[in-house]
Amino acid sequence: MKIVMLGAPGAGKGTQALRIAEQYGVPHISSGDIFRKNLKEGTELGLRAKAYMDEGLLVPDELTTDLVISRLREEDCKDGYVLDGFPRTLPQARALSEKLKSEGARIDFALDIEVSDEEIVSRVSGRRICPKCGAGFHTLYNKPRIDGICDICGAELKMRDDDRPETVLKRLEVYHAETEPLIAYYKEEGILRTVDGSQSIDKVFEDSLDVLQD
Ligand code: AP5
Ligand code: MG
Ligand code: ZN
Repeated sequence: MKIVMLGAPGAGKGTQALRIAEQYGVPHISSGDIFRKNLKEGTELGLRAKAYMDEGLLVPDELTTDLVISRLREEDCKDGYVLDGFPRTLPQARALSEKLKSEGARIDFALDIEVSDEEIVSRVSGRRICPKCGAGFHTLYNKPRIDGICDICGAELKMRDDDRPETVLKRLEVYHAETEPLIAYYKEEGILRTVDGSQSIDKVFEDSLDVLQD
């Protein structure tokens, strides 16, 4: 099963992608996580990406497309994957379609998680992530058992650098301009599925599995 997650920053792509990937037994591949991992390891790519991320801008396609597509060639991706945060521009979507076409494969579904801009701002401001294992939490909607501490590995939770309110507004603007057109792209291909992302995390997951059935 090959799934592309669509949705605004903070819509819940990462939260749902992780569960869906587990359900289908395929890896969860997040372009944002790949950049953050590079940054943590201090690579040149990580530093270059950070400059864009901190401004709420997209990392240029030249730095992104080959990086993610080469990840999809690894052994664990042979039975599928859940792509989270990629593609995010029409050139990225076309590059992915081309890559798959050359292998006689295709994306099965593009799952769009719909959430209003107002709700996005409140979600993102409460998000906390584990710098050690990458697990995600929310101060109201997805609380860790102990305040400020990762349930999985015990590390101290942090805010993401790009979750400051000004940056979130910029990310939303960029989303509407650059990424929202992908909804029409995948609709045209007949593989778009939509869920109401304003519901609880469990309900969004349940609805996602429903629409991924057919
Ligand atoms: P990326 O890491 O992909 O960030 P994003 O798209 O902005 O999305 P988020 O991770 O912020 O949100 P999400 O939808 O995953 O929501 P989450 O599940 O965490 O990208 C970061 C940056 O990297 C980009 O800005 C760009 O610069 C660069 N980049 C990445 N990919 C790129 C590409 N392909 N091309 C160019 N540049 C790229 O949920 C959010 C919060 O809400 C959490 O706290 C969660 O617990 C909570 N929550 C989730 N669901 C619910 C619910 N149903 N109810 C209540 N709370 C919920
Ligand atoms: Mg995410
Ligand atoms: Zn952790």
